[in-house]
Amino acid sequence: MARYYFKGIITSKKKESENVFSHTIFFEDNKILRKMKPGRFVMIWLPGCDEFPLSPLFYDITSSTMRLTFKIVGLGTKALASMNPGQAIFVRGPYGNGFAIPPITGLSREKPLLIVGGGVGIAPLLPLIHVITKNSLDLHVVCGFRSILDTFFVDEIYRFVGENLTITTDDGSMGIKGTAVNAVRELLKRKHFSYAFACGPEPMLFKLHKMLSYKGIPHQMLLERYVKCALGVCGSCVIDGFRLCKEGPVFDNTVLKRLSEFGCFKRLPSGIKEPIVDS
Ligand SMILES: Cc1cc2nc3c(=O)[nH]c(=O)nc-3n(C[C@H](O)[C@H](O)[C@H](O)COP(=O)(O)OP(=O)(O)OC[C@H]3O[C@@H](n4cnc5c(N)ncnc54)[C@H](O)[C@@H]3O)c2cc1C
Ligand code: FES
Repeated sequence: MARYYFKGIITSKKKESENVFSHTIFFEDNKILRKMKPGRFVMIWLPGCDEFPLSPLFYDITSSTMRLTFKIVGLGTKALASMNPGQAIFVRGPYGNGFAIPPITGLSREKPLLIVGGGVGIAPLLPLIHVITKNSLDLHVVCGFRSILDTFFVDEIYRFVGENLTITTDDGSMGIKGTAVNAVRELLKRKHFSYAFACGPEPMLFKLHKMLSYKGIPHQMLLERYVKCALGVCGSCVIDGFRLCKEGPVFDNTVLKRLSEFGCFKRLPSGIKEPIVDS
């Protein structure tokens, strides 16, 4: 089943911001949706073009649909963004561990939870926000963008958490001027969080991991590496011996602190290590 491709038909398309698009995909066969959970991912195959991983932000068995939000970075994502309703794509999965939700149920309702997203990293956090707020746990969300032109999902997240949403932009064109990391640093002075989740650019995640670890706040982060097979066999996604497609893409603080490559190196498609640059 893991290698089987499901044919999906694009039913709607939305431009979310300058370089970010969403497609809703309908599946005749809804098997692919049955094992979805927040933080798991699927492989998108555009025949003759590319295959790449995306983490759906919405999936629903009843309507047999999945929603993908993605940023245009290269050939594959550019081709996907140029596709329109009625066209077919091929999808396999879901893969990976996803966020471990059980800790939430055991968490105190008095102490709030924190979710931090940077750029398009906010997309895989949407289903998690949905699950946490459905369990009526106190949740604070911090979203960081480069500028107001890059913002998306602000209204959706506001509907879930209201005033507990903090928006930051690097240039101050919306919300607080600065990065999501700066906003979390300030928030940690006033609030005691019991648990945190994050997804976004790795330099941001690395700084957050250090900050949260210093404060003793357990956390899970969704990392990105080059995913080729998604089946745990090719080794392209390995980070310090962990296969991101099998043991990840979500890692908790106990694993993160053991990863010498976290925040420092990633691998190119050729397998060669490349330093991660904080842009
Ligand atoms: C588990 C996981 C979930 C992801 N979820 C999302 C998401 O929800 N939304 C989103 O916008 N992006 C997501 N990404 C990143 C997305 O996979 C890449 O942006 C995409 O693969 C780029 O492909 P491309 O052909 O457009 O670019 P290319 O020109 O092929 O490559 C540009 C850069 O994108 C990255 N990349 C390319 N191919 C892959 C690949 N097969 N695996 C991982 N990285 C790759 C590399 O850093 C590469 O240098 C996710 C990545 C992972 C690993
Ligand atoms: S992508 Fe091949 S082992 Fe993970």
